[in-house]
Amino acid sequence: MTATAGPKAEPVDLLSPEVVADPFGWYARLREEPLAGHGTLNLGTMMGGPDMWLATRYDDVLQVLTDPRFLTNPPADSPMADIRDGIFKRMNFPEDLIPWMANKLNSADGEEHTRLRKLVSYLLTARRVNALRSRVEKITEDLLDRIAELGADGSPVDLVEEFCFPLPVTVICELVGIDEEDRAAWHAWGNAMATMDAPNIPPALRKCIALSRELMARRRVEPKDDLVTALVQAQAEDPARVSDDEIVGILFSLVTAGHQTTTYLIGNSVLFLLEHPEQFARLKAEPQLWAQAVRELQRLGPLQFTQVRFPSEDVELGGVTIPKGAPVAPLLLAANTDPRKFSEPDKLIVDRLTVANEMHLSFGKGIHRCLGQHLAYQEAEVALHALFTRFPDLSLAVPRDELPWILRPAFTRTKTLPLKLA
Ligand code: HEM
Repeated sequence: MTATAGPKAEPVDLLSPEVVADPFGWYARLREEPLAGHGTLNLGTMMGGPDMWLATRYDDVLQVLTDPRFLTNPPADSPMADIRDGIFKRMNFPEDLIPWMANKLNSADGEEHTRLRKLVSYLLTARRVNALRSRVEKITEDLLDRIAELGADGSPVDLVEEFCFPLPVTVICELVGIDEEDRAAWHAWGNAMATMDAPNIPPALRKCIALSRELMARRRVEPKDDLVTALVQAQAEDPARVSDDEIVGILFSLVTAGHQTTTYLIGNSVLFLLEHPEQFARLKAEPQLWAQAVRELQRLGPLQFTQVRFPSEDVELGGVTIPKGAPVAPLLLAANTDPRKFSEPDKLIVDRLTVANEMHLSFGKGIHRCLGQHLAYQEAEVALHALFTRFPDLSLAVPRDELPWILRPAFTRTKTLPLKLA
């Protein structure tokens, strides 16, 4: 890939403090100011890796996510074949753990991906998720009871710690079958990954691999109504369907994907609504709009981009030819705020999207489209509606610019969200 010389020929570091601190501003700029001679695309980099093409316009991002020539692994005969391992090697990551860092379901291609996805998809269909609603409501109510106690004397309550995090974690752990005593270890793993806390990732990863193996052994002897049991039973019927390591990989995919993302969706949504009193007032007056509102809140974050793709052959994208194997990053937030697709794209409009037509790309599209979308929407809808019904006068307990934003890639999120209940 050659960049045309010029003032913006430097690839943009997506993890630089300026970009991470202002994703809306930067992603809009990348989308509206493509690199001269590079069609509608820009160039970027991350974690000291090679230059990547940045797809930012809605149509380009959609093509990267849905065109079957864009794979999640570089072709073995391309110069990028070693790109993922190279990043972890540069971080001095223990060699034996590097293969575990590739999220097996997300990053599988072709038949391997279809086989793994089929093993899990049954668990997260709209019908099964609807059946879980009363359980999600109960967990929500219990957490709100505790929040009411904590804030009864007027002290601020940290909503991330007490609500946004425990709700999705409890739900996903129950579904998958992670026992209560093991959840703290998975929490430590999720946190280390979310903050890219390099020294803590290897021990947390080793611990959760060991816990997963013990859990599989327990469920082989004592089956329960959970995903781990279903997976070990599928393996017992036909060992070719899934290996032990693949089961561990699936647990990692689900527990990680199933809690960090939804935690930040709920937390960011609370903040968005407190900052958009008119839209918030509409939801109070017309609570039937919540199902639509969570779709609009999802459009505006918290996820900024998803995994890099690699074309299996030369592909036309955004007016340029992307050579086989060259990395392309789909910037979801840039696409979701593309004025060519959404009018007044930076504005929160709670009934902008319909349940039948969400349009945004925050759950991806195509064969890797998020398996947890029904669950994430249900959790966010139940959580936000119940929270604001119980505490209608919720407000920030600190000035907004004192919120501890976590300046790390991919997600916009705050470490804590201190709120006053009344
Ligand atoms: C706000 C919440 C969530 C967001 C923003 C989100 C976002 C995404 C995105 C963008 C993808 C596509 C990745 C790609 O194409 O590179 C994805 C895939 C996936 N998500 Fe989610 N997700 C959320 C919640 C969940 C939940 C709750 C679960 C599990 C219960 C989950 C499980 C998965 C899995 C297993 C995949 C991989 C699917 C595949 O590769 O076939 N996600 N998610």
